[in-house]
Amino acid sequence: MTPIRYELVDRIAVITVANPPVNALSHAVRQGLVEAVLRFRKDDADIAIILGDGRLFIGGADISEFGKPLKAPSLPEVVSDIEACPKPIIAAIHGTALGGGLEVALGCHYRLAMPGTKLGLPEVTLGILPGAGGTQRTPRLVGFDAAADMITSSKPILAEKALEIGLVDRIGQGDLRDAALAYADDMRGAPARQTGAMAAPVPGTDLAARRTALTKRIRGEVAPLVALDAIEASTRLSFRDGLAEERRLFMHLMDTPQRAGLIHAFFSERAVTKVDGLKGVAPRDIAHVGVIGGGTMGAGIATAALLAGLRVTLVERDNAPADRARATIGSNLDAAQKRGKLKGARESVDKALNIALDYEALSDADLIIEAVFEDMEVKRDVFQALDNVAKAGAILATNTSYLDVNQIAQATTRPQDVVGLHFFSPAHIMRLLEVVVADQTAPDVTATAFALAKRLGKVAVRAGVCDGFIGNRILSTYRAAADHMVLDGASPYDIDRALRDFGFAMGPYQVSDLAGLDIGFATRERKAANAHPRDRRPVFADALYHAGRLGQKAGRGYYDYSEDRKGREDPEALRIIAEAQTSQRSFSADDMVRRYMAAMVNEAAKVVDEGIAARPLDVDVVLLHGYGFPRWHGGPMHWADAQGLERVLQDIARFAQDDDHFWQPAPLLTKLVADGRSFADLNRKEAP
Ligand code: 3HC
Ligand code: NAI
Repeated sequence: MTPIRYELVDRIAVITVANPPVNALSHAVRQGLVEAVLRFRKDDADIAIILGDGRLFIGGADISEFGKPLKAPSLPEVVSDIEACPKPIIAAIHGTALGGGLEVALGCHYRLAMPGTKLGLPEVTLGILPGAGGTQRTPRLVGFDAAADMITSSKPILAEKALEIGLVDRIGQGDLRDAALAYADDMRGAPARQTGAMAAPVPGTDLAARRTALTKRIRGEVAPLVALDAIEASTRLSFRDGLAEERRLFMHLMDTPQRAGLIHAFFSERAVTKVDGLKGVAPRDIAHVGVIGGGTMGAGIATAALLAGLRVTLVERDNAPADRARATIGSNLDAAQKRGKLKGARESVDKALNIALDYEALSDADLIIEAVFEDMEVKRDVFQALDNVAKAGAILATNTSYLDVNQIAQATTRPQDVVGLHFFSPAHIMRLLEVVVADQTAPDVTATAFALAKRLGKVAVRAGVCDGFIGNRILSTYRAAADHMVLDGASPYDIDRALRDFGFAMGPYQVSDLAGLDIGFATRERKAANAHPRDRRPVFADALYHAGRLGQKAGRGYYDYSEDRKGREDPEALRIIAEAQTSQRSFSADDMVRRYMAAMVNEAAKVVDEGIAARPLDVDVVLLHGYGFPRWHGGPMHWADAQGLERVLQDIARFAQDDDHFWQPAPLLTKLVADGRSFADLNRKEAP
């Protein structure tokens, strides 16, 4: 079955791309489009329209073909064929036109878009650039600056804006096919206007400043700058040479490890939703969400639910924290409104929020998320109380960071309805949600958690029960590796720098200052009773804590914030740290990164082996969306595969010469190396 349909309607050729789910431009589609154009050239139709079947126009090139041998016709050839057709071809765009999908439309002679359609060139998010003429045709149509904004930001624009800047020619009304046929009828006899024949664009207003700002924003990522080079080529080369230059740069990016990492991230984000045992399990209906506790997390969770159009009842202990919660949610909504993230009228969103002091207010809630203090006794009391008021079938969720969800579930008479929903701070912004599945959690409760995440615009990852689940457990290990280096003589500033250079937005000690050194201290105290005698406590962090250097909120932590929020290195902090250091070894930046990453990968391998994370890719998504792991490395497991697992294991053996308690190789890592396999091999195990 060809994915391209061709029909004639009153001497209008209707070419339909039907390749579900997103009409990606896979080989058969490219082949079919070339054949359709050839047929149109030969038959007696006056004009043709290309449209997409289903919910969108075309979602882009077929990403699953990347990295494999290219099968002709290539996409640039298809687009050039469309453009070279002497009879006019119209793109009739609805839903979404992304990447190669928009490039097909740009090869057409006229473009009609339905209201609200999203048009974008997001290729740089995959480590490549628009490679089917997008960098040459877009600036010819909309000018250099608008094209550079679209391509380097990767953000789609709406049809209405596209009309304003000249990317499309008309906004259709009503039914897509009817609107397309009517437009084609109007355009009968119009010339086959070629975008490629339009005048070359003039360079942007301030190219040097644009390049500098972009370099700063993307930190280490290569594709956006290379894409800017390709757009810039459109201003000085002929259209033909510009296309050749675009192709050269595209093929170069296609070969980079960043491209492989970014595409791994893309597919992993989709794979995490495929959870063992959930296929065909219907989620429960959720319309009314309860939240207990309106502090940092509760207020954020309530905001996220309100932004998704849900009704929210938040329960606090007292009037003062209830008022604070209302104020926080209000300012969160103000900010969301400014960013255009509010669906519907503000008034109705405000009305959807009810703040109460009594658990009775939750009797009608479909899902209740507890976000009170991190204390088992407090949480168990809350769950006992909930058990008494929640309606039958309501889902009872805890946002605990570390505590045992099984123990919390046992405080109720309905452990099958209890699940962990571990949001990240700020909960209305961070995209990760760990869905912590306890021993007795019912499959439809897990399915509901995943459905809710989708509704909230979050990426959900299934996690098993252990101290810290996937993310925080791995964090505490790689964080310890950094602390050990400081104990042994490294400067926290050098470690932060090395990890920023690796691609993290912030180093671990900047993160400490942001979170507050009191949080880390409290965690250490909590864990002290169960600590192993050979665990090394970061006494320098305790010393800073005792000196009142609690981080940003105190104006000083590892860094000094007296002048600005960026923070400065502080000799006084270094003096306090030096007093607590046990030796004065020096570490190279490379060594710092290798230790940090080896600790992360090793603990992650244990987490996978124990079934806490289903696959290595689940770990990658957690680290990417919850812990600022640089996306173009694909995630720690993809990074480890790219390094070669043998090398990571050798690193661990080398580090273990100094500390064989901390550096115990994960059995899974050892086994994979012995078998000559990679983490990616474990990802291929398809969920049923
Ligand atoms: N190629 C191959 N598969 C794709 C794909 C693509 N371009 N886009 C989506 N898919 C797959 C997904 O992997 C998923 O598969 P699964 O069901 O097996 O997990 C399925 O299609 C549905 O995808 P989503 O869950 O993402 O569907 P949504 O409805 O939420 O979103 C979308 C649709 C907005 C089109 C989104 O899928 C998307 O953003 N896709 C990528 C768009 C993109 O980056 N295009 C540029 C490609 S590169 C290019 O065109 C190069 C050119 O310049 C030469
Ligand atoms: P917080 O201290 O800011 O807020 C807790 C709120 O719960 C307070 O407003 C308090 O008045 C209220 N509260 C306490 N007992 C209550 C009760 N019985 N009934 C109603 N309200 C009650 O704490 P935070 O940071 O919001 O943390 C909440 C939970 O979320 C904890 O379990 C924490 O581990 C977890 N968490 C925290 C993250 C963070 O970054 N702060 C991230 C992810 C999870």
